[in-house]
Amino acid sequence: MEWASHWLHFAYRSTDIFNNGVADTCAELGIVVTAHTPLGAGMLTGNIKSVSDIPKGSFKSFFPRFQEEALKKNFLLVQELQKLAEKKGVTAAQLALAWVKNKGKDGKPFIVLAVGARSVERVKENFADVVLTEKELQDIKEVLEHNPVMGDRFPTAFAAHTEY
Ligand SMILES: NC(=O)c1ccc[n+]([C@@H]2O[C@H](COP(=O)([O-])OP(=O)(O)OC[C@H]3O[C@@H](n4cnc5c(N)ncnc54)[C@H](OP(=O)(O)O)[C@@H]3O)[C@@H](O)[C@H]2O)c1
Repeated sequence: MEWASHWLHFAYRSTDIFNNGVADTCAELGIVVTAHTPLGAGMLTGNIKSVSDIPKGSFKSFFPRFQEEALKKNFLLVQELQKLAEKKGVTAAQLALAWVKNKGKDGKPFIVLAVGARSVERVKENFADVVLTEKELQDIKEVLEHNPVMGDRFPTAFAAHTEY
């Protein structure tokens, strides 16, 4: 396999590459996809329930998905995912990471996760080998379809200077 890396931001919330041919092309050419921010910068862990949970000065306070109205709406999605995680006996973070890993199942494309965590406990939690069943994947798909993410990925001025 040729080792190149294609950096893309995706979690449940930025799945464009699976619909626009990029993931298929990476698989075909043996290009590794690096999935950065797979926990939605912490949102998908369930720990960010409102804007008051965002530390002052954090980049998140400038991002559309973390603005008050959007965050309120996006937290509804997180709560639905939390229910599925609880049903499986895993954490919301583990469910999110398992979902991303599943997207790279059988090397289609090969996916490397770039997760941020600052404690040994969280790193261990995030490394757990959680495998989702077809039924669980279907349940997640339905939750995602019923709860579209509110807010652009990046602020407009920032987006104008990114390549993806
Ligand atoms: N190339 C690019 O364009 C680009 C853009 C953005 C990010 N990145 C890279 O992607 C990597 C990850 O990004 P990120 O850290 O912003 O986002 P992330 O991995 O989606 O989320 C990390 C956040 O989730 C929290 N967290 C991690 N594990 C958790 C758990 N098990 N339970 C509860 N909370 C948990 C972390 O808190 P604690 O830190 O307090 O543990 C942190 O606030 C970084 O290396 C970053 O540099 C690259």
